[in-house]
Amino acid sequence: MADMPEDGEPQIHEGKQAIVTGGTRGIGEAIVRRLAAQGMSVVMVGRSDTTLRQAADRIRSAVPGAELRLERADLSLLRDVRALADRLAVSTSPSVVINNAAVSADIRARTEEGIQLTLATNHLAPYVLMRTLAASLKKGPARFVVVGANPTVLKTFPVDLDDLDARDARALSRFPSLRPFAAYARTKNMNTMFVYSLARRLTDTGITVNGAHPGIIAQTGLSRDARGLEKALATMVALNPFKKMPDQGADNPVWVATAPGLDCVNGRFFVDRKEATTPDHTLSPDRCEALWERSAELVGMEP
Ligand SMILES: NC(=O)c1ccc[n+]([C@@H]2O[C@H](COP(=O)([O-])OP(=O)(O)OC[C@H]3O[C@@H](n4cnc5c(N)ncnc54)[C@H](OP(=O)(O)O)[C@@H]3O)[C@@H](O)[C@H]2O)c1
Repeated sequence: MADMPEDGEPQIHEGKQAIVTGGTRGIGEAIVRRLAAQGMSVVMVGRSDTTLRQAADRIRSAVPGAELRLERADLSLLRDVRALADRLAVSTSPSVVINNAAVSADIRARTEEGIQLTLATNHLAPYVLMRTLAASLKKGPARFVVVGANPTVLKTFPVDLDDLDARDARALSRFPSLRPFAAYARTKNMNTMFVYSLARRLTDTGITVNGAHPGIIAQTGLSRDARGLEKALATMVALNPFKKMPDQGADNPVWVATAPGLDCVNGRFFVDRKEATTPDHTLSPDRCEALWERSAELVGMEP
C-alpha cells in the first residue's frame, strides 16, 4: 500500500486546467464544481449544448467566476471521442483528467457504429481519450482519474475477455432486469484493468492514473432506465435516510486528483480516500494486457 497523506485537504489550484467527462449532472457536475472552486479552469464534456449550458449556469451560480469551457461530444460514438481527444490534445495542457461519464443501459442497445452502448461509453471512450491525451502530454505532472465503482460489488462481475460486449445475456445474470447492471459492472471492472495497464505504460512520465469509487450515491441519473430488481435497488438507495448525495460522491475522485502528496501514486484504486484492493480478476497483468489489446483492436489504435 502506498504511503498516503493523512487527510490532505485539497490545495488551491489557481491557473491549472482540468478535463471532466459527464459534467452535466450527478457526480460529474459536483466534480466540476469542486475543481472550479479550487481555482481550476475546467473543460466540461457533455453530449448536448443545452445540458452543458444548464450545468455551467448552476456551477457558476455556486462558484461565481468559475472558468468553464464546454465541449460537446457523444462519448458513445468513437468518431466523437476521437475528434474530442484530438481537439483537447492540441488545445489543452491538463493537470487533471477525470473520466466520470458512464451509463447503465439496455444490453441490446447499440450505437450507430454498431458497438454495444455500455461498452462504448464506459470503457472504449476513456480508453481512447486517456491514451490520446497521455500520448500528447508525454510528461507530467498530470493526474488522470477513472471513476470506478465498489470493488466488493464488482467481485461477482468479472470481465469476459471473449465477450466484451456481453452478447451472452444469460451469463450476465439469471434475472433479466439485472443484466444491464451486470453489463455496467463488467465495464467498471474494465475501467480498473485499464487503469492498471495504462499506469504501467506511464511509469516515469510524471503522468499518473488511478481509479476512484465515488460511493453509493443517490439523486444521480445512472439508474434512470432501471427496471425490475435494479429499479428496486435504486429505490432503496433513494429512500435510505443516510443516503449520500452527488457532492459527497465527488469527494474521493477530486481528492485523488488534487490532494497533496499523491503526485507519484500511480496505478492504484481508492475508496473513501484510502487505497483499496480490487477484485482478483482485475489484477492479472495478462488479463489486463488482453483487454488492452482487444480494446485497441475495437477502436483501431495500435496496441
Ligand atoms: N451513483 C452511484 O451510486 C455510483 C456508484 C458507483 C460508481 N458510480 C460512477 O460515477 C460516475 C457518475 O455517475 P452518476 O451516478 O453521477 O450518473 P449520472 O448522473 O447518470 O451521470 C453520468 C454523466 O455521464 C454523461 N453521459 C452519459 N452518456 C454519455 C454520452 N454518451 N456522452 C457524453 N456524456 C454522457 C451524462 O450526461 P447526460 O446528462 O447527457 O445524461 C452525465 O453527465 C459513473 O462513472 C458511475 O459509474 C456511480
